Formats: sequence, C-alpha cells, structure tokens
Amino acid sequence: MLRETCDVTVWQEELPPPREVIRRELAEADGLLCLLTDPIDAEVIGAAPKLKVISQMAVGFDNIDLAAATSRGIPVGYTPGVLTETTADFAFALLMAAARRISEAERYARAGKWKTWGPTLLMGFDVHGATLGIIGFGRIGRAVAWRTRGFAMRVIYHDPSTDSDVARQMGAEALTFEDVLAESDFLSLHVPLTPQTRHLIDARALGLMKPTAVLINTSRGPVVDQRALYDALATYRIAYAALDVTDPEPIAPDDPLLMLDNCLIVPHIASSSVQTRTRMAVIAAENLLAGLRGERMPHCANPAVYSQ
Ligand code: DGY
Repeated sequence: MLRETCDVTVWQEELPPPREVIRRELAEADGLLCLLTDPIDAEVIGAAPKLKVISQMAVGFDNIDLAAATSRGIPVGYTPGVLTETTADFAFALLMAAARRISEAERYARAGKWKTWGPTLLMGFDVHGATLGIIGFGRIGRAVAWRTRGFAMRVIYHDPSTDSDVARQMGAEALTFEDVLAESDFLSLHVPLTPQTRHLIDARALGLMKPTAVLINTSRGPVVDQRALYDALATYRIAYAALDVTDPEPIAPDDPLLMLDNCLIVPHIASSSVQTRTRMAVIAAENLLAGLRGERMPHCANPAVYSQ
C-alpha cells in the first residue's frame, strides 16, 4: 500500500532499529510507521524536520511523546477497535490457563513426570461462578466481561470514566479500586500506561488481593510493580499471575519471575492473530497515507492537531 505512492525504507531486522538509525532515517522522512518497541520521544521528533505524520501499528502509544508531536502539529495514528476482540480472547485464554495450570501441566507431562492419576495432582481453581475484577472498563475490558457469560461469573470493575449505566446493562458492578482488588478471584488489567497507572498494582494493591487470586495482565508491563509481584507470588500472597506484558520487554532471561511455577509469561502476543495483525497493519498504512495527503487520519491519537 505504501509503495504505491511513497519511497519506503523498511527496517528489515527482527530487533528494533537503534535510536541513531531512527534519527538518521527521520532526518529526511515525511512519514513514520512505527511499532511499540520504537521510542519516539521529543528528541527523536525534534530531529525530524520534515516529519508530517507518525503512524503506530498498535492501540497503545506510550512509546510516543504525544505532546511533542502535537506541538509540532504532527498527527499520530494508532489502531483502536480492530484488536479488541482478539486481545480479549487472549486475556480470557490466560485466565483459563492460569486457573487450570495448563502451562505447568504441559511442562510436567513433557518432562516425563506423569506417573499416574492423582487425586490432588495439579489442582487449580474453578472459573465458572468465580468473580472477575476488571481494572479499566474500556473497549477491551468490556469485551473480556462479555466472555464471562457462559461461565456464570460475577463481573466487578473499576473505571471512573465509564458510564455505569452501560456497565449495569452488561451485568457488571462498579466498585472502588480497593473493593475490586479485595473481591476478585481473577483480576484483569485493561488500562493504558500513563504516569497515573505506572505501578498501579504495587505491594499495597497486591496485599489487598485474596491469597487465591489470579492476576492477568495484557495491558502494559509497568502497570505492575514486577518486584512486588515476585514477592507476592513467591510467598503465595496471591496464587498466580499470567502476564502477556512485562517490564522491561523482553523480560531478562534471569528474571526471578521466570523461576516461579505460579507465573505464566508469554511474549506480548495478545493481539497476535493472523486476521488482527493484518488489519492493524492495513489501518497503520491507511493512517500514514491519510496524514501524508494532508487529510484527517481515520484513527488519530491527538485529534487536537486538527483544531490547531
Ligand atoms: C497494542 O496494540 O497496544 C498491543 O499491546 C499490541 O497489539
């Protein structure tokens, strides 16, 4: 799509481009299509005199200095909506896998430890009838809530910006942050990473949770204080965590969380279905092309640029 009208330079390596390469390439570029692994901060934006548009292939854009882009009048595209259902599927898959200890059980079977049927072998927690707490009741949080219907779960949430009438129609109850933590059997995080949500789940928050609780994070790694999470899991202050995102990414191979059996970690793949990643790529290209043509982009994270 981009090559039909643009001269395109593509970074072909698996690992993200070094900062100097981004800066060098942006010196002459009119547009940038980037990933959540590229730090597009004020300095990088400042070193791109011709830049007219930034398009990120993700719904989250905490790697981009939105204020710096806005002050230069540069629209920033993102890919909301298209990955909601796929990410919610995955959050629920993590919930189920953690509740029933599927990754542990698979390791056990592969390691040749399966000797017999045992009455207490790898006992997990029931999902049906349990209480799911959702922190952040936006698009993805709600899509996770819908998925509980076949499991007769109670859904509670905390999100001061959500219309509680809509939530009530879905059968979800709004509670304080503390009450959601205290009452959840499963706690799923669906907030963007902002200065306010960094380490939202810290030692205090973990201390409010049930000792049988399972934490699921498909949002951003730094929303959880990972050191506090390690302490909580290692001492069975909470029962289990299932993480699609870590801080940093990738998680260091010697990170103590990787040594814990009650922590399931996967490499930031919640939106990774063939259909959704394809749609995300197309939307990112459409956003970029609209920006280059000087048109309003279909999905803009800083629409204030259009009223400046
Ligand atoms: C996003 O889009 O922000 C996800 O983290 C990756 O799909």
